[in-house]
Amino acid sequence: MSKLIYYVAATMDGYIATKDHELDWLYDCPPGDDATPYDEFYQNIGATIMGAGTYEWIMKNAAGEWPYQDIPSFVLSSRNLTLSADINAIVTQDNPKNIAAKARNAAKGKDVWVIGGGKTAASFADAGELQQLFITTIPVFLGSGIPVFPVSQAIHVIPNKQRYLYSGAFETIMDIKLTQ
Ligand SMILES: NC(=O)c1ccc[n+]([C@@H]2O[C@H](COP(=O)([O-])OP(=O)(O)OC[C@H]3O[C@@H](n4cnc5c(N)ncnc54)[C@H](OP(=O)(O)O)[C@@H]3O)[C@@H](O)[C@H]2O)c1
Repeated sequence: MSKLIYYVAATMDGYIATKDHELDWLYDCPPGDDATPYDEFYQNIGATIMGAGTYEWIMKNAAGEWPYQDIPSFVLSSRNLTLSADINAIVTQDNPKNIAAKARNAAKGKDVWVIGGGKTAASFADAGELQQLFITTIPVFLGSGIPVFPVSQAIHVIPNKQRYLYSGAFETIMDIKLTQ
């Protein structure tokens, strides 16, 4: 069955961006050539989900090019957010359960990438709708920033795979334990 996967890069102290939404720490210390290639991950993805914060960050930093045009994206916002014209994405105010069902359906048998940010990924985990975490941990501490996974309850995980990279980064894949 199609999985919802939160695939993200984080610091050693658990942040995905500085408080000012900067990612310089990641660009300054890329995971390296032995990291799982992005294309290998992306070829199994049939839809994406992201929060308004991540959508706005992408629009500001992706030089006008929507990076996921080949697959449908769901952008969560409680505001009347107007998306850039002609991008393959919709804004939704639905709850995580319904969005997960719609995204799985749209992904046509492939997995769904929960791009982030932390708040969005956590809300899907809290709703029991996230199946896997794929975190690339970069060897840097920031001391403060946007939290990687601010869940509102304990989420137990089963380690699936861990790989240390030459850069000092490491990839951790964890399956989320189902609760009854
Ligand atoms: N390091 C990485 O790999 C990586 C990956 C992704 C993102 N990021 C960074 O993460 C930052 C954004 O993360 P974030 O955690 O602050 O924000 P986010 O999860 O991207 O967006 C949160 C916003 O989405 C809207 N929303 C509506 N329904 C929601 C729901 N059920 N759950 C959660 N959000 C909902 C809310 O905005 P409204 O006010 O519109 O309702 C909320 O403030 C950016 O700086 C981005 O660059 C880093």
